[in-house]
Amino acid sequence: MTGKIITVAQQKGGSGKTTLAAHLAVAGLGKKKTRVAILDVDPQGSLGEWFEAREMALGEEKTGLTFRTASGWGARREARSLARDFDYVIIDTPPKTDTDSRPAIEAADLVCIPIQPTHIDLWATDGTLSIAAKEDKIALLIMNRVPPRASLTAEIEAAMHEMNSRAAKARLGNRTAFAKSMGTGRTVLETMPSGKAAEEVAALAKEVFSQAGR
Ligand SMILES: Nc1ncnc2c1ncn2[C@@H]1O[C@H](COP(=O)(O)OP(=O)(O)OP(=O)(O)O)[C@@H](O)[C@H]1O
Ligand SMILES: [Mg+2]
Repeated sequence: MTGKIITVAQQKGGSGKTTLAAHLAVAGLGKKKTRVAILDVDPQGSLGEWFEAREMALGEEKTGLTFRTASGWGARREARSLARDFDYVIIDTPPKTDTDSRPAIEAADLVCIPIQPTHIDLWATDGTLSIAAKEDKIALLIMNRVPPRASLTAEIEAAMHEMNSRAAKARLGNRTAFAKSMGTGRTVLETMPSGKAAEEVAALAKEVFSQAGR
């Protein structure tokens, strides 16, 4: 049985792709004996930097994860090859829907699209959604950096549901704990395991893994 490939994509920069990819990867490790690989297709290399910080913090043998990079069409090949050995392959992509993201979307079992709750972010989602649709891939819209008590969030949520795509029930709040944990090569699941942010990640990961079919 091959593993599931989960691609995190969104052409809008700074929407939380890398943060989401790292958190999903570590959440995946929470399941017994799960093998998780992360693949950085973004030339910015942010996920790679996070992984290096993780090696420094935890020791090279104790990251729990296997890290690879790929570019262009190599991403599809690398992802499929990793899926033969790992239960989950989580791919982080650049903020463009061009040659770098497309192969990663083509390889995916599920495309996760983080969206900050503003209209500008929502508009920027079209490009990613249309590639996913063309490739016949399931796309899951995920609200990220949701501020407390903003009426705009409900408006965006309503608009999201009209986009003819799945939307995750779980969302991630706007919490500095996310940024802080990433800076030390970890996730909120490790730095604040009993906090609200970790609770949100756990709920989201459950939905994501079940939508990916595992
Ligand atoms: N839920 C959150 N709460 C608070 N800050 C967040 C959250 N998610 C992401 N951030 C912060 O937002 C910024 C952008 O996040 P991130 O780098 O994950 O986005 P990205 O989509 O990968 O960006 P790029 O398009 O440049 O690759 C970072 O500073 C990150 O720490
Ligand atoms: Mg990124």
